[in-house]
Amino acid sequence: MERKKVILDCDPGHDDAFAIMLAVQNLSVLGITTVGGNSPLENVTRNALKVLEVIGHADDVPVFAGHSCPMVAPLVTAPMFHGESGLDGPVLPEPTHVPREGHAVDFIVDTVMSEDDVTLVATGPLTNIAAAINREPRIVGRVREICIMGGSVTFGNWTPAAEFNIYVDPEAAARVFESGMHVKMTGLNLTRQSGFDEGIIRRFDTLGTRAGTFAGDLTRFFMSAGRKINDPTVACMHDACAVAWLIAPELVKSAPMHIDVELSGTLTRGMTVCDYRHLCGPVPGVDVCREAQTPYKGKLPNAEAALELDYEGYVDLVCDTLARYN
Ligand code: BDR
Ligand code: CA
Repeated sequence: MERKKVILDCDPGHDDAFAIMLAVQNLSVLGITTVGGNSPLENVTRNALKVLEVIGHADDVPVFAGHSCPMVAPLVTAPMFHGESGLDGPVLPEPTHVPREGHAVDFIVDTVMSEDDVTLVATGPLTNIAAAINREPRIVGRVREICIMGGSVTFGNWTPAAEFNIYVDPEAAARVFESGMHVKMTGLNLTRQSGFDEGIIRRFDTLGTRAGTFAGDLTRFFMSAGRKINDPTVACMHDACAVAWLIAPELVKSAPMHIDVELSGTLTRGMTVCDYRHLCGPVPGVDVCREAQTPYKGKLPNAEAALELDYEGYVDLVCDTLARYN
């Protein structure tokens, strides 16, 4: 089967590293673009190169640095989860590769305008993507779709209402959701179903490969960092879920909804306000009750929200992928 052509816009980041490993092995990655988010731009760009060097793809996957700061707000980073480097834990040498000449936004625009059927995957703040839409609005009609890790149908992580990637640059996120691009939202409500536990870390370790050891070290660090605030027994590699959804759509149950981004709420800035009044039940859209048959009265859906993960299938995809890196 022909591999989907993707540009991966990211801020590595432990879970972004998993997203990169899944994407490079299973999709046709035209390029990786970086954005200030989990750590300042210089760090996340260096980390993207490090990940590619670990998996032996730094020569064939170009990396372009993008925006260092959000569109309006000052940059917020997440050293408490990713360490000062943005990728603490695994001991890696400094990369020998450097980013390509040119800005990430130019790369996104030029690639989408010259290649048919490109899918965008965004696992950091949406600053570069919004800037690309502003620069060349025709990319909206050119891309196949955008699959983001960000937001939540339920509750947030950075604040009670907001997920980190959307919170960091809500203006950019709003631009993307209202652009008319087909958005797939892999929010926290889905990624919280994806936790790796000690047993899965052992599966990574027993691969005995550089990629396996790297995956184990990433997960151990992320688990201990997350222990400070949430479930002490698992690490959710949020960003990997967005890529997994593209690779194997059958792993994710989803539903169309209208999603807006709150820009001005004092308690809710960065919240993804998901209108799923047309769906009801304990898990919106999955257990649909009779009310779903009634005419939809809200705005027309502008996004497809991920709701339910096939956990076993997802873990197998990650482990099988890592096993294919020698
Ligand atoms: C998101 O925030 C970042 O810290 C992660 O890399 C992920 O993209 C989860 O809220
Ligand atoms: Ca990320």
